[in-house]
Amino acid sequence: MDRYAVVGNPISHSKSPLIHGMFAEQTGQRLAYERLEAPLDGFAETTRDFLQDGLGVNVTVPFKEQAWALVDERSAAAERAGAVNTIARRADGTLYGDNTDGKGLVRDISVNAGLALAGLRILLVGAGGAARGVIQPLLAAQPAQLCVVNRTVSKAEELATLFGDQGPISAAGMEWIEEPVDLIINATSASLGGKLPGINPSLIRPGHTWCYDMMYASEPTAFNRWAAEQGAAHCIDGLGMLVEQAAEAFLLWRGVRPDTAPVLKALR
Ligand code: ATR
Repeated sequence: MDRYAVVGNPISHSKSPLIHGMFAEQTGQRLAYERLEAPLDGFAETTRDFLQDGLGVNVTVPFKEQAWALVDERSAAAERAGAVNTIARRADGTLYGDNTDGKGLVRDISVNAGLALAGLRILLVGAGGAARGVIQPLLAAQPAQLCVVNRTVSKAEELATLFGDQGPISAAGMEWIEEPVDLIINATSASLGGKLPGINPSLIRPGHTWCYDMMYASEPTAFNRWAAEQGAAHCIDGLGMLVEQAAEAFLLWRGVRPDTAPVLKALR
């Protein structure tokens, strides 16, 4: 049977085996998908071992940058993102790396939530790996402006410089922006600890601004609870992004894109 896995540390809570299992059943593909915990200092070895026989892996925290370094060739999205979340082993044994996180985010917002990104003023909060991975696909959707804000402003400025040739991107400190925007995307890890990233509440125009937290949990995240209190028009968590990035990985491996709606519904 064709074998795939998700590699991370920790990995026991990953929903990826469940998601890919549902994709396989729906599309009639025969495959096995497992969780693989790599030691913190043993990502490359664990992944190479698995890919002797396995056909592909998804990569999650904290190994996406190491996966970028491991592969032989990368998609344009992965190249810029500096991170790889999907590896496919080719027939000749070489490893191809893609980053489907940004495609997954854009698809979740534009298709699942039905918000067209073209012409919008978007605020991206955070400048770590998660933010970096989604900038190119966001700019490709042709917003009027993508402003990156971060607690450490120099990291936001670095990203604005790095992606400056891709579209209208700017950088600022968390507290500097006060004008309302159309869409706010939280790409900080603050939600992990139940904390708020500290942006100005005046960024949310009640009844107008959409808010998206790339994190998800069984309860609304701290950021989405805060956004709802400020009157955000819609508050969305990252579960749809998770399912959509998985669908893009499945497409790369199997050549068929599963229907994500029933899978997302089952997970909810
Ligand atoms: P990831 O891969 O999840 O992006 P990361 O690269 O460590 O993880 O980046 C974490 C991001 O969350 C950074 O933008 C970080 O801000 P700094 O660059 O200033 O460290 C942001 N972050 C984490 N905790 C935060 C908090 N409590 N308030 C605001 N920003 C926070």
